[in-house]
Amino acid sequence: MIFYFSGTGNTRWVAEELAKKTGEKLLCIPDELKGECSYFLQEGERLGFCFPVHGWQPPRIVKDFINKVTFSFKSPIYIYTILTCGDNIGQALELFKKELDKKRLQISSAYSLIMPESYVCLPFMYTDAPENELNKIHKATIELTRIANEIISRESGIVRINTGKFPWILSHVIGAYFNAFMISDKKFFVEENICIHCRKCEKTCPIGNIFIKNGLPHWHHNNICTNCLSCYHHCPKHAINYGKITRKRGQYFFGHTINNH
Ligand SMILES: Cc1cc2nc3c(=O)[nH]c(=O)nc-3n(C[C@H](O)[C@H](O)[C@H](O)COP(=O)(O)O)c2cc1C
Repeated sequence: MIFYFSGTGNTRWVAEELAKKTGEKLLCIPDELKGECSYFLQEGERLGFCFPVHGWQPPRIVKDFINKVTFSFKSPIYIYTILTCGDNIGQALELFKKELDKKRLQISSAYSLIMPESYVCLPFMYTDAPENELNKIHKATIELTRIANEIISRESGIVRINTGKFPWILSHVIGAYFNAFMISDKKFFVEENICIHCRKCEKTCPIGNIFIKNGLPHWHHNNICTNCLSCYHHCPKHAINYGKITRKRGQYFFGHTINNH
Protein backbone atom coordinates (compact mmCIF):
# COMPACT_ATOMS: atom_id res chain seq x y z
CA MET A 1 0.00 0.00 0.00
CA ILE A 2 1.23 3.45 -0.89
CA PHE A 3 -0.40 6.40 0.87
CA TYR A 4 0.18 9.83 -0.59
CA PHE A 5 -0.78 13.46 -0.33
CA SER A 6 -0.14 15.92 -3.14
CA GLY A 7 -1.10 19.48 -4.03
CA THR A 8 0.54 20.38 -7.31
CA GLY A 9 1.07 16.80 -8.48
CA ASN A 10 4.77 16.24 -7.74
CA THR A 11 4.13 13.69 -5.03
CA ARG A 12 1.22 12.12 -6.93
CA TRP A 13 3.64 11.47 -9.80
CA VAL A 14 6.18 9.95 -7.37
CA ALA A 15 3.52 7.73 -5.79
CA GLU A 16 2.04 6.69 -9.15
CA GLU A 17 5.45 5.80 -10.59
CA LEU A 18 6.22 3.78 -7.49
CA ALA A 19 2.87 2.00 -7.66
CA LYS A 20 3.60 1.07 -11.29
CA LYS A 21 7.05 -0.24 -10.42
CA THR A 22 6.09 -2.12 -7.24
CA GLY A 23 2.61 -3.20 -8.30
CA GLU A 24 1.23 -1.87 -5.03
CA LYS A 25 -2.08 -0.19 -4.35
CA LEU A 26 -2.22 3.60 -4.33
CA LEU A 27 -4.30 5.40 -1.73
CA CYS A 28 -4.87 9.14 -1.52
CA ILE A 29 -4.72 10.38 2.07
CA PRO A 30 -7.53 13.01 1.89
CA ASP A 31 -9.89 10.38 0.39
CA GLU A 32 -8.88 7.80 2.96
CA LEU A 33 -9.47 10.26 5.80
CA LYS A 34 -13.18 10.28 4.91
CA GLY A 35 -13.36 6.61 5.93
CA GLU A 36 -12.32 4.41 8.82
CA CYS A 37 -8.58 4.37 8.03
CA SER A 38 -8.26 0.73 9.13
CA TYR A 39 -6.11 -1.48 6.96
CA PHE A 40 -5.06 -5.09 6.94
CA LEU A 41 -1.65 -5.74 5.44
CA GLN A 42 -1.16 -9.00 3.60
CA GLU A 43 1.87 -11.15 4.27
CA GLY A 44 4.91 -9.46 2.66
CA GLU A 45 3.08 -6.28 1.76
CA ARG A 46 5.10 -3.05 1.89
CA LEU A 47 3.85 0.20 3.36
CA GLY A 48 4.82 3.50 1.75
CA PHE A 49 4.13 7.12 2.68
CA CYS A 50 4.76 9.88 0.12
CA PHE A 51 4.10 13.54 0.84
CA PRO A 52 5.49 17.02 0.22
CA VAL A 53 7.33 18.92 2.91
CA HIS A 54 5.48 22.05 4.04
CA GLY A 55 7.60 24.46 6.05
CA TRP A 56 10.17 21.71 6.73
CA GLN A 57 7.50 19.60 8.39
CA PRO A 58 5.02 16.95 7.25
CA PRO A 59 1.73 18.65 6.24
CA ARG A 60 -0.89 18.61 8.99
CA ILE A 61 -3.19 16.35 6.95
CA VAL A 62 -0.47 13.69 6.94
CA LYS A 63 -0.12 13.92 10.73
CA ASP A 64 -3.93 13.75 11.08
CA PHE A 65 -3.95 10.62 8.97
CA ILE A 66 -1.27 8.90 11.03
CA ASN A 67 -3.15 9.80 14.21
CA LYS A 68 -6.31 8.16 12.87
CA VAL A 69 -4.92 5.14 11.03
CA THR A 70 -4.77 1.56 12.32
CA PHE A 71 -2.87 -1.19 10.60
CA SER A 72 -3.27 -4.90 11.27
CA PHE A 73 -0.54 -7.24 10.15
CA LYS A 74 0.85 -10.62 11.08
CA SER A 75 4.45 -10.51 9.92
CA PRO A 76 6.89 -7.56 10.28
CA ILE A 77 6.29 -4.94 7.63
CA TYR A 78 8.69 -3.04 5.44
CA ILE A 79 7.93 0.69 5.69
CA TYR A 80 9.41 3.44 3.55
CA THR A 81 8.76 7.11 3.04
CA ILE A 82 9.52 9.61 0.29
CA LEU A 83 9.33 13.31 1.10
CA THR A 84 9.23 15.66 -1.87
CA CYS A 85 10.56 19.21 -1.54
CA GLY A 86 11.70 22.17 -3.59
CA ASP A 87 15.09 22.36 -1.85
CA ASN A 88 15.40 20.54 1.45
CA ILE A 89 13.38 18.88 4.21
CA GLY A 90 15.08 20.05 7.44
CA GLN A 91 14.04 17.60 10.17
CA ALA A 92 10.70 16.68 8.59
CA LEU A 93 11.70 13.02 8.56
CA GLU A 94 12.38 13.01 12.31
CA LEU A 95 9.01 14.68 12.91
CA PHE A 96 7.27 12.10 10.75
CA LYS A 97 9.06 9.27 12.56
CA LYS A 98 7.73 10.65 15.86
CA GLU A 99 4.19 10.44 14.48
CA LEU A 100 4.77 6.84 13.39
CA ASP A 101 6.29 5.98 16.78
CA LYS A 102 2.90 6.67 18.35
CA LYS A 103 1.59 3.76 16.26
CA ARG A 104 4.67 1.63 16.94
CA LEU A 105 5.60 1.76 13.27
CA GLN A 106 9.23 2.01 12.25
CA ILE A 107 10.57 3.25 8.95
CA SER A 108 12.93 0.88 7.17
CA SER A 109 14.17 3.34 4.52
CA ALA A 110 13.62 7.04 3.87
CA TYR A 111 14.26 9.38 0.97
CA SER A 112 13.80 12.97 -0.07
CA LEU A 113 13.28 13.92 -3.67
CA ILE A 114 13.89 17.43 -4.96
CA MET A 115 11.07 18.49 -7.27
CA PRO A 116 9.93 21.79 -8.79
CA GLU A 117 9.10 24.46 -6.21
CA SER A 118 5.42 25.14 -5.49
CA TYR A 119 5.57 27.70 -2.67
CA VAL A 120 5.37 31.31 -3.85
CA CYS A 121 3.61 33.25 -1.10
CA LEU A 122 6.59 34.91 0.57
CA PRO A 123 9.21 37.38 -0.65
CA PHE A 124 12.07 35.64 -2.45
CA MET A 125 9.96 32.52 -3.06
CA TYR A 126 9.43 31.83 -6.75
CA THR A 127 8.63 28.96 -9.05
CA ASP A 128 11.70 27.51 -10.71
CA ALA A 129 12.71 28.60 -14.20
CA PRO A 130 11.36 26.09 -16.78
CA GLU A 131 14.80 24.62 -17.50
CA ASN A 132 15.38 24.13 -13.78
CA GLU A 133 11.97 22.43 -13.43
CA LEU A 134 12.85 20.04 -16.24
CA ASN A 135 16.29 19.43 -14.78
CA LYS A 136 14.82 18.64 -11.34
CA ILE A 137 12.29 16.23 -12.87
CA HIS A 138 15.01 14.57 -14.96
CA LYS A 139 17.18 13.98 -11.87
CA ALA A 140 14.17 12.87 -9.82
CA THR A 141 13.21 10.33 -12.50
CA ILE A 142 16.65 8.72 -12.25
CA GLU A 143 16.64 8.78 -8.44
CA LEU A 144 13.11 7.38 -8.29
CA THR A 145 14.12 4.34 -10.36
CA ARG A 146 16.96 3.74 -7.90
CA ILE A 147 14.61 4.19 -4.93
CA ALA A 148 12.02 1.82 -6.44
CA ASN A 149 14.65 -0.89 -6.94
CA GLU A 150 15.77 -0.52 -3.31
CA ILE A 151 12.18 -0.70 -2.12
CA ILE A 152 11.42 -3.74 -4.28
CA SER A 153 14.42 -5.53 -2.77
CA ARG A 154 13.38 -4.28 0.71
CA GLU A 155 16.69 -2.65 1.53
CA SER A 156 16.71 -1.42 5.10
CA GLY A 157 18.59 1.37 6.82
CA ILE A 158 18.81 3.64 3.77
CA VAL A 159 18.35 7.31 4.62
CA ARG A 160 19.04 9.41 1.53
CA ILE A 161 17.71 12.84 2.40
CA ASN A 162 18.61 16.45 1.83
CA THR A 163 18.20 18.20 5.19
CA GLY A 164 19.69 21.57 4.24
CA LYS A 165 21.91 23.57 6.57
CA PHE A 166 20.72 24.01 10.18
CA PRO A 167 17.85 21.51 9.83
CA TRP A 168 16.73 21.92 13.46
CA ILE A 169 16.26 25.67 12.99
CA LEU A 170 14.48 25.13 9.67
CA SER A 171 11.91 22.71 11.16
CA HIS A 172 11.62 23.81 14.77
CA VAL A 173 11.96 27.59 14.49
CA ILE A 174 11.12 28.86 10.98
CA GLY A 175 8.95 25.86 10.08
CA ALA A 176 7.20 25.85 13.45
CA TYR A 177 6.25 29.52 13.02
CA PHE A 178 5.26 28.95 9.39
CA ASN A 179 3.02 26.00 10.20
CA ALA A 180 1.46 27.66 13.24
CA PHE A 181 0.64 31.02 11.65
CA MET A 182 0.91 30.89 7.87
CA ILE A 183 -1.09 27.84 6.82
CA SER A 184 -4.49 29.32 6.13
CA ASP A 185 -6.92 29.92 3.27
CA LYS A 186 -7.81 33.42 4.52
CA LYS A 187 -5.64 35.22 1.98
CA PHE A 188 -6.94 33.44 -1.13
CA PHE A 189 -9.13 35.50 -3.40
CA VAL A 190 -10.30 35.42 -6.99
CA GLU A 191 -10.03 38.31 -9.44
CA GLU A 192 -13.68 38.32 -10.53
CA ASN A 193 -13.07 40.04 -13.87
CA ILE A 194 -10.44 37.45 -14.87
CA CYS A 195 -12.12 34.23 -13.64
CA ILE A 196 -13.61 32.19 -16.52
CA HIS A 197 -15.73 29.98 -14.20
CA CYS A 198 -13.99 26.77 -15.32
CA ARG A 199 -14.12 25.37 -11.75
CA LYS A 200 -10.60 23.90 -12.09
CA CYS A 201 -9.76 25.27 -8.65
CA GLU A 202 -12.69 23.42 -7.12
CA LYS A 203 -11.83 20.19 -8.97
CA THR A 204 -8.13 20.22 -8.17
CA CYS A 205 -8.33 21.14 -4.47
CA PRO A 206 -7.19 17.84 -2.92
CA ILE A 207 -9.25 18.33 0.22
CA GLY A 208 -12.48 19.79 -1.21
CA ASN A 209 -11.97 23.17 0.48
CA ILE A 210 -13.43 25.21 -2.42
CA PHE A 211 -17.08 25.75 -3.24
CA ILE A 212 -18.57 27.73 -6.11
CA LYS A 213 -21.10 30.49 -5.49
CA ASN A 214 -22.37 32.67 -8.35
CA GLY A 215 -19.76 31.04 -10.59
CA LEU A 216 -16.85 32.09 -8.40
CA PRO A 217 -14.63 30.09 -6.03
CA HIS A 218 -14.92 30.55 -2.28
CA TRP A 219 -12.76 28.96 0.39
CA HIS A 220 -14.44 27.36 3.40
CA HIS A 221 -12.22 29.12 5.97
CA ASN A 222 -12.67 26.22 8.37
CA ASN A 223 -9.02 25.54 9.06
CA ILE A 224 -8.62 22.50 6.82
CA CYS A 225 -6.63 24.19 4.04
CA THR A 226 -3.07 22.82 3.80
CA ASN A 227 -1.90 25.76 1.66
CA CYS A 228 -0.77 23.33 -1.03
CA LEU A 229 -1.58 26.09 -3.59
CA SER A 230 -3.19 23.67 -6.03
CA CYS A 231 -6.02 26.18 -6.65
CA TYR A 232 -3.54 29.00 -7.32
CA HIS A 233 -1.28 26.98 -9.62
CA HIS A 234 -4.02 25.26 -11.65
CA CYS A 235 -5.99 28.41 -12.50
CA PRO A 236 -5.65 28.77 -16.30
CA LYS A 237 -6.02 32.56 -16.04
CA HIS A 238 -3.95 33.24 -12.91
CA ALA A 239 -7.17 34.65 -11.46
CA ILE A 240 -6.57 33.13 -8.01
CA ASN A 241 -4.07 34.81 -5.74
CA TYR A 242 -2.82 34.52 -2.20
CA GLY A 243 -2.60 38.14 -1.13
CA LYS A 244 -1.14 40.55 -3.64
CA ILE A 245 2.32 38.96 -3.65
CA THR A 246 1.41 36.05 -5.95
CA ARG A 247 0.09 38.35 -8.70
CA LYS A 248 3.68 38.59 -9.91
CA ARG A 249 4.60 34.96 -9.30
CA GLY A 250 4.68 32.07 -11.75
CA GLN A 251 2.48 29.00 -11.74
CA TYR A 252 3.44 25.34 -11.72
CA PHE A 253 1.87 21.94 -11.55
CA PHE A 254 3.35 18.60 -12.48
CA GLY A 255 3.12 18.03 -16.24
CA HIS A 256 2.70 21.73 -16.98
CA THR A 257 6.31 22.37 -18.02
CA ILE A 258 6.69 19.05 -19.79
CA ASN A 259 3.56 19.72 -21.85
CA ASN A 260 4.79 23.17 -22.77
CA HIS A 261 8.15 21.99 -24.14
C1 LIG B 1 2.96 25.40 1.92
C2 LIG B 1 4.22 24.90 1.28
C3 LIG B 1 5.39 24.82 2.02
C4 LIG B 1 6.56 24.33 1.44
N1 LIG B 1 7.67 24.20 2.22
C5 LIG B 1 8.82 23.70 1.68
C6 LIG B 1 9.97 23.51 2.49
O1 LIG B 1 9.96 23.72 3.69
N2 LIG B 1 11.10 23.07 1.89
C7 LIG B 1 11.16 22.80 0.54
O2 LIG B 1 12.21 22.45 0.05
N3 LIG B 1 10.05 22.91 -0.24
C8 LIG B 1 8.88 23.36 0.30
N4 LIG B 1 7.76 23.49 -0.46
C9 LIG B 1 7.79 22.97 -1.86
C10 LIG B 1 7.14 21.61 -1.97
O3 LIG B 1 7.51 20.77 -0.89
C11 LIG B 1 7.50 20.89 -3.26
O4 LIG B 1 7.31 21.71 -4.37
C12 LIG B 1 6.69 19.60 -3.37
O5 LIG B 1 7.28 18.73 -4.29
C13 LIG B 1 5.25 19.86 -3.75
O6 LIG B 1 4.58 18.62 -3.83
P1 LIG B 1 3.14 18.45 -4.44
O7 LIG B 1 3.22 18.93 -5.88
O8 LIG B 1 2.89 16.99 -4.37
O9 LIG B 1 2.21 19.26 -3.64
C14 LIG B 1 6.57 23.95 0.08
C15 LIG B 1 5.40 24.06 -0.67
C16 LIG B 1 4.23 24.52 -0.08
C17 LIG B 1 2.98 24.60 -0.92
